[in-house]
Parts: sequence; C-alpha cells; structure tokens
Amino acid sequence: MVSQVLVASNRGPVSYSVAEDGTLTAKRGGGGLVSGLSAIGQDADAVWVCAALTEGDRAAARRADGALPAEDTGGQRVRMLDIDADTFAGAYNGVANSVLWFVHHLLYQTPLEPVFDTEFERQWAAYEAYNAAFADALAGDAEQGATVMVQDYHLTLVPALLRERRPDLRIGHFSHTPWAPADYYRLLPDAVAADVLRGVLGADRAAFLTRRWAEAFAACCADMLGARVDGADRPDGELRVTHAGRTTRIGVHGLGADAGFLRERAHRDDVAERMAALREQIGTDDSGASRRTIVRVDRTELSKNIVRGLHAFRRLLRDRPEWRDRVVHVAFAYPSRQDLAVYRRYTEEVARVADEVNAEFGTASWTPVVLHVKDDFARSLAAYRLADVALVNPIRDGMNLVAKEVPVVSDAGCALVLSREAGAAAELAQDALPVNPYDIAGTAAALHTALAMPFEERAARTERLAAAATALPPQAWFLAQLDALHTP
Ligand code: F6P
Repeated sequence: MVSQVLVASNRGPVSYSVAEDGTLTAKRGGGGLVSGLSAIGQDADAVWVCAALTEGDRAAARRADGALPAEDTGGQRVRMLDIDADTFAGAYNGVANSVLWFVHHLLYQTPLEPVFDTEFERQWAAYEAYNAAFADALAGDAEQGATVMVQDYHLTLVPALLRERRPDLRIGHFSHTPWAPADYYRLLPDAVAADVLRGVLGADRAAFLTRRWAEAFAACCADMLGARVDGADRPDGELRVTHAGRTTRIGVHGLGADAGFLRERAHRDDVAERMAALREQIGTDDSGASRRTIVRVDRTELSKNIVRGLHAFRRLLRDRPEWRDRVVHVAFAYPSRQDLAVYRRYTEEVARVADEVNAEFGTASWTPVVLHVKDDFARSLAAYRLADVALVNPIRDGMNLVAKEVPVVSDAGCALVLSREAGAAAELAQDALPVNPYDIAGTAAALHTALAMPFEERAARTERLAAAATALPPQAWFLAQLDALHTP
C-alpha cells in the first residue's frame, strides 16, 4: 500500500472565522476530496496542504505555525500556508479565477476581454510565487517516495516545480474543471499557456473528470508544445503525452455522488422542516393541486447559466400558458466569489430577471420564481427531495454534482434537464433531457417535456440516473487515482 499521501489544494478542509475579541472558530467543509481522503483511514500518514483564504485562516495558520490543531480538523493533518495577502489575491482572484477559470469555461466576451497587459504580468508573477510556496511546503513535508495529489487550476505549476525539488516523489494532478479547446486556450499569452501545460506535465499522471477534458488537455499539449500524444487505442483508454523526453499519463476518473451520506443527511429533521416550509411557499394551484417544481441549486457562478435558466422558464410560461399557476421555479443561487465585480453584477442580474418574471406572470396567490440566496445545505436537500424537474444548464462544467445528487435523494422521481456541456452528461445524458445551454427555446421545450413526463417514466429514469451517478463514489474515486498512480 501507498506510504505517505499529501494532498495539495487551494481551499482546504477547514476554514476559520475570527470574532471581535480575536477568538477563532473552525468550520469543517465537505465535498469529494474530504470524503475521498477519508478512504485511506485516520491512521494513515496523510497531510493536506492548503492556503489561508481569509483573515481568520491567516490568524489560525500563524498561531499554529501552519500545522492546524487536530481538534479543528477532525484528526486530519492540515498545513495551512500563510501566503502574503497580495500574492494570494493576484494568484487566486487575478489568475486562477479571472483567467484560467474563464478560459476553461469559455466565459470571455472576446471583443473586449481578455486584456493581457502589465496588471496581468503582476498577477502572473504572484501566481508563480504562490505555486512555488506550495511546492516548497510539499517538498519540505514529504517523506522519501511519498505520493502527492495536486488539485486543480490554482496549482498547475506545482507538479513541475515539485519534481525539480523532489524527483523521488510520485506526483498526480487532478483537474476539477473542464479543459479549454485548443483554439480557445490560445487566448492565453504563449509563454503562460506553455508554462501551465508544462507545469501539469510535471506530474507522473494528470487526471480529469471526463474523457472530453482529458482529450482537450492532450490537444493543447500537441498544439502549444508540439508534444506527442499516444494511447487512444490502449485498452485502459489512458492517453500518454510525451514532451521534452518525459511521458505523462493522462487518466479519467468521473467523481460520483456519495449515496450513503446524502440519503442519511436528507432524512434528518431539519430537512423535513425545510420541505414543509418550501411546500408552503410553492403552494397549490386554483384547483387545489400541489404545484409542480423546477429546482436548481448552484453557486452564483457565471458558468452555471442561471440567468438563461430564468429566460427559459419565462419562455415556457409564454409559450405554454397551461403551466401558468401550476409550476414554480425554485432557484437557489448561493453567493460565490463576491470579491470579483463581474460576479457581483451577475448576482444582481439573477435577482433582476427573477423579479421581471414574477412581475410579468405572478398573481396574488402564485409567485412563479422563488429565489433563495442564503446558503443552506438542508434546504438544498429538501428541494432535491421534492423536485419534479431539476434544471442543470451550465455553459460548461467539469462535472456538476447537483445533476448526480438530485436523482440519489429524490423522493418520487425527478426529470433531469441537463446541459450537454456538463461533464455529468457523459454518464447521465441517456436518461436526462440534454440541452444546448445557450438555446432558450430548446431549454424551454425540454422543461415542458420534463414537466409532462409520466410519473412512472420519471421514476424509472431517476433510478437509472442514480445508479450511474453513484458508480464512482468519492472514496473509490480517490483510491482509484492512488492505485493508478502506483501502477506502471
Ligand atoms: O470546480 C472546481 C472547483 O475547484 C470546485 O471544487 C470548487 O467548487 C470551485 O472550483 C472553487 O471554488 P472556490 O473559488 O470557492 O474555492
């Protein structure tokens, strides 16, 4: 079995808030990596290296000299890096979230952006310094021959930097985002585009959520670096990218939903309470029948396409008057990346369009769009359980776990309207209703089909969706990566 395992990610498994009197309160996070890492057991020698994101985190990191107390982390060894605040902001907001995220999700309005000038050069230098800080910390903490699992677009330079420092280590990189098509990737300045690819290729194995993103990465390596790509015909499907005399294996691991956790959590009392409150808000139509629900749950993230989802709902009500008074769009849009002006404007636009739809169609007894912006996991699960239709229409998404979670916890079956540009479509498209996320008429038509779907068909599809969605739960997903990294 693998000896020491180190995980490196920007956001760690715990965050701190600081009270006025200086007291720090730790809050543990969830997600695929947290439960994935738990697969190797509490006794195993695992270390999670992450960045301090907030003032509370910085205070906690300084207090403990980076190594957080076990009582805050549930026993997990966590080393939080107190990277200088300007460097962190340039790397995280400047490069990771405003450039690499935009490139991989195709978010630029290209007539005016991106503009790579002196401000970007400063931010890129910060990104290099931030990646070097991770590489230094990992090189310092790793035992001889340890395995290091580097996560995501924040840390693309780490694999190559770490290999220079510690050639004895086994290094993996995992991308949780899509990867841009080569023509779009070329928006980046050439040197930056090449550095990012060479950085990831520093890993022994680079892995992605779907074959589509793995192939896009390999295509960028061929295009920008002249790398050789082989392996398309291998029985295990692993691509091989060879550049500058080294070969990096390219793998695919489609993270699935954690059925055991979700089903248990979704049947606690707080979820039942929220279901009752939601049912009250949704209400009954003129005939006294419960209204249908179209549910979405997202971070208010540009790639999630919430505004076009509202346009599609409006189009449904315009084109299909039979649904007026009979359906409610329950939209949960939780705050995200509010340090960035474009996210703040997008958040306002979501509220504005929701208000417009309500003004156009609402009546004294029917609110067509119920929008909630305060993050509440129990309420999200409540909405999953009662949804008739789930709307998951991202412009582009690495996977999209909402699409996988809804079928797992749905009480009576739920029709899934799913963007063909979400990674989840690779596994779920057959039993979902696939849509082009830019096509409002097409999305409205899919919403109509979903609402009109006979209950038996909906339930049967949901059962198959749940099976596909749980094929590779977080622990198996994590172990499969570790295994593959150690298989020659
Ligand atoms: O999708 C990739 C990802 O890293 C997710 O794991 C996470 O939800 C998000 O991007 C990062 O969000 P944040 O900037 O809030 O850490």
